[in-house]
Amino acid sequence: MSSDRTGFTLWFTGLSGTGKSTIAELVGPELGKRGALVEYLDGDVVRTHLSKGLGFSKEDRDTNIGRIGWVSSRLTRAGAVVLVSAISPYADTRAAAREMVEEFGSFVEVFVDTSVEACAARDVKGLYAKAFSGEIKEFTGVSDPYEAPENPEVHIQTESQTPQESAAAVIAALEERGLIGGAVPA
Ligand code: ADX
Repeated sequence: MSSDRTGFTLWFTGLSGTGKSTIAELVGPELGKRGALVEYLDGDVVRTHLSKGLGFSKEDRDTNIGRIGWVSSRLTRAGAVVLVSAISPYADTRAAAREMVEEFGSFVEVFVDTSVEACAARDVKGLYAKAFSGEIKEFTGVSDPYEAPENPEVHIQTESQTPQESAAAVIAALEERGLIGGAVPA
């Protein structure tokens, strides 16, 4: 069963600390103003519930992303706009998530592109320091792979713009694709 609303999934991928969640949280309310029913699936949060107990091996990350992809596909079918923020480092696993979602709606991959150096310099959660010292193993971009998207629908370079500017670029890309209309006055 599907609803009258057109659901789609916005999939933010990028290293830890690039600002994926920050941008998603700025984009979400803008979509809400346009009448969308918004739901967030944030890797850090999903790992405290649906993916509790999973680690960071390729197998565990794939399981995590597979779950997020599946839930996204169901919410998309129900007419929601799903904002996923997860490192999702493997191209094949992102492609599998895309395939699940595209059964029901659009999948818009947003590459939140920030260099490891810039993420490490900010190190908001203090994880990069631990990754460089070896205290945390298999850390994406330091001791574990990140396969950058080759053809993302949206490519955000956070080092040259503010989160607000990044969010505006995402909104503009959605308007261009006809996925959203203009803001409805309150
Ligand atoms: S994913 O690889 O499975 O997509 P996810 O986005 O859910 O990762 O979780 C990433 C978050 O877990 C990071 O933002 C960081 O806070 C935390 N984290 C803990 N250990 C690691 C690690 N080894 N590699 C990457 N992130 C880690």
